[in-house]
Amino acid sequence: MNASLRIGVAGLGTVGAAVVRILKRQDNALSQRCGRAIRVTAVSARDRGRNRGIDLSGVRWFDDPVGLARSDDVDCVVELIGGEDGPAKDAVEAAIGAEKHVVTANKALIARHGLALARAAEARGVTLAFEASAAGGIPVIKTLREALPGNAVQRLYGILNGTCNYILSRMEFEGLTFAACLADAQRLGYAEADPTFDVEGYDTAHKLAILTSLAFGTEIDAEAVYVEGIAAIAPLDLKMAGELGYRIKLLGVAERTRTGIEQRVHPTMVPKSSAIAQVMGVTNAVTIDADAVKELTLIGPGAGGEATASAVVADVADIAARSARAPFGRPVDRLEKGRRAPMQRHEGGYYIRLTVHDRPGVAAGVATRMAEGDISLESILQKRSETAATKDPHGRSGAPVSLVLITYAAAEAAIRAALDNIATDGLVSEAPQVIRIERE
Ligand SMILES: NC(=O)c1ccc[n+]([C@@H]2O[C@H](COP(=O)([O-])OP(=O)(O)OC[C@H]3O[C@@H](n4cnc5c(N)ncnc54)[C@H](OP(=O)(O)O)[C@@H]3O)[C@@H](O)[C@H]2O)c1
Repeated sequence: MNASLRIGVAGLGTVGAAVVRILKRQDNALSQRCGRAIRVTAVSARDRGRNRGIDLSGVRWFDDPVGLARSDDVDCVVELIGGEDGPAKDAVEAAIGAEKHVVTANKALIARHGLALARAAEARGVTLAFEASAAGGIPVIKTLREALPGNAVQRLYGILNGTCNYILSRMEFEGLTFAACLADAQRLGYAEADPTFDVEGYDTAHKLAILTSLAFGTEIDAEAVYVEGIAAIAPLDLKMAGELGYRIKLLGVAERTRTGIEQRVHPTMVPKSSAIAQVMGVTNAVTIDADAVKELTLIGPGAGGEATASAVVADVADIAARSARAPFGRPVDRLEKGRRAPMQRHEGGYYIRLTVHDRPGVAAGVATRMAEGDISLESILQKRSETAATKDPHGRSGAPVSLVLITYAAAEAAIRAALDNIATDGLVSEAPQVIRIERE
């Protein structure tokens, strides 16, 4: 058998410790499959005294991950520290500079610096692999890079953040508020102490930027992703969505449109019958629409130590077997500069919930403004609170009531202009809730 592949693991937290565990557990099967053994020879973390439940005897310890990256007894550095800059980036750059392969689960690093790192890896003749950086244990990067060359991808969309999906699932089924579900997610360890990154959509945006590049053969463009989080979703929106035949999910969507490539992350209404609507709790899912395969949906664990480590080990095994591919499926110079489609040019259906004054003529005023913007309404529903209805059965109390509109496909710019006019007319008492509808 060939000389073993020597691994240096930088970061021994949730994922790093699980990688060390799996490499040991699958030791024999991996060497049979790859034609050589895979051995962890070096590790790095901050606290040497911490019990991580893994056997590190005979493994060299580095306090500094850059030292590990440059160490002579390491062929492949597995970066599991996290963060788009700082020690993670330093270690990855040092590893590539020292002509070592790199495997990482770090979506922030790849979304921001993936192109430059891939270029550097290419120049040094080493591999950069990041399967675990998008959708954790789901092999979506491999699928896009290796399984679909006979396809032109038209659209890719997914639930890429388990914390948000958990919160929205509980809000829907238990009628709870966003704040209550977030507190539970934190208590159960699904959400970070600072959940901003997850609930405001940035984590999804990083993953989407990576997947967009692989789906369309374009340079990563994380700056181009339009991002909206889930904090403003109210239980009433989930209830209304249900009554109208939809569910609300935080989706990352990448689509080739007439105006260019759209990348957007926002709460989205999806038909209840769609595959993605069935995905509940912390589970992730990605649907790929492509010309030959039509629709392909991958569903599975998007996070968790062992599930994420499963994807990391797959990359390590490719390197050991010398079967790793170019990071973005083709040499960096052959990636296209994708044309950005501005969000204002987005076209689709919309759910709009307006809080209007309960008085005659309001619904007609709203409908007129929509018609002026060439926006066709599929339905218009007025939801009065039970108290308002009891106090004034004729609907003239002037109290705030919800008016829900579902539009046919319309341009984002037209919707925004119509809503501005409605606000100027004094018809609404609160900012409108706008949720885009994703077609099947
Ligand atoms: N957790 C998941 O489910 C998941 C899923 C997909 C992707 N990822 C990605 O995987 C990566 C790791 O995530 P994680 O959840 O395993 O993080 P984690 O549990 O916080 O572990 C981070 C590790 O990095 C070490 N570390 C931090 N700063 C360091 C430094 N300056 N030098 C050396 N070591 C340092 C820490 O050392 P100490 O242990 O000594 O503090 C710890 O072992 C991140 O990029 C994350 O986005 C995670």
